[in-house]
Amino acid sequence: MNYKIAVIPGDGIGPEVVEQTIRVLDKIGSIYGHTFEYSKYLAGGCAIDATGEPLPEETVEGCRNSNAVLLGAVGGPKWDTLPGDKRPEKALLGLRGKLGLYANLRTAVLNKELKDACPLRPEIVGDGIDIMVVRELTGGIYFGERGIRENGKMGPEAFDTETYSVGEVERIARIAFDIALKRNRKVTSVDKANILESSRLWREVVERVSKDYPNVSLEHMYVDNASMQLVRNPNQFDVIVTTNMFGDILSDEASMITGSIGMLPSASLGEGSFGLYEPVHGSAPDIEGQDKANPIATILSAAMMLKYTLNLPKEAKAIELAVDRVLEEGYRTGDIMSPGKTLVGTTKMGELIVSFIE
Ligand code: IPM
Ligand code: MG
Repeated sequence: MNYKIAVIPGDGIGPEVVEQTIRVLDKIGSIYGHTFEYSKYLAGGCAIDATGEPLPEETVEGCRNSNAVLLGAVGGPKWDTLPGDKRPEKALLGLRGKLGLYANLRTAVLNKELKDACPLRPEIVGDGIDIMVVRELTGGIYFGERGIRENGKMGPEAFDTETYSVGEVERIARIAFDIALKRNRKVTSVDKANILESSRLWREVVERVSKDYPNVSLEHMYVDNASMQLVRNPNQFDVIVTTNMFGDILSDEASMITGSIGMLPSASLGEGSFGLYEPVHGSAPDIEGQDKANPIATILSAAMMLKYTLNLPKEAKAIELAVDRVLEEGYRTGDIMSPGKTLVGTTKMGELIVSFIE
């Protein structure tokens, strides 16, 4: 088969990790008889430099005309002082909104080879950590009405609003329950229903959707408690489903407890099979261009792409096994390095994974 992939390398280490990922996909293609056709597009800081806009229309069109999008990372200090709607981050929100990518799947898995990287005590971690955060991605306060009014209570004031409709909650809840069915059949819905009206609606709708999934257990948790429980006993969680902002925060926390954000992939999905795949980590400008970045998160994001969008589970598994193998053999990039292991750079790590794909 022939698949069209829109590639957005972005800023910082984005282009480096994407380059290695493309080598991995090409190897998969040559073994399993697929052709991946890549078209590169600009987004983020590099797009601002080239066109004045963080998200050129051409990029959005290019994504729409592809089967899937592979994204590196966007942003960096160079663009940090630009006004809100001209910042590189705007490209991410724009892509999510315009492509209708309302479901963000972020895994937090502690690879057994990397137990030392986990900042939690071994007795808390037990056999490992495996959490899936399902974050609502096109609603809530990140997309709500916002503004500034001159006559506030104590001078000029700024506001942002959190809004959720029944349909928005329903569709993200279904995604979470469907995923839980393929995992350990437990969903924790995180909200702030003791305070927020939008959370009370959220809770009610999730509760209703859960009736269609009698084999999945559902619990509700307030966000403050959830952030505490994640470090107290991470293994109580299987699938966490939550709003855009709570998911932004909790997915960072969940990734940190694995100790290796450089390992974690994500998928952003909408209706149909189309999806955008990117590492959970950012553009890491401090190590840009030094062959130090860990390409594994992006490579595993490509594996998610094979699984969720292209329906190639065998090929996805081949990538995951190659990554496991490279770690078993003791190869490490700087972010996951520990004594006695072999330090390698971005390119070498990519090469090794390619060589272990069967
Ligand atoms: C993320 C990032 C983005 C977000 C920013 C860069 C807009 O933090 O993908 O989690 O908040 O969604
Ligand atoms: Mg974030």
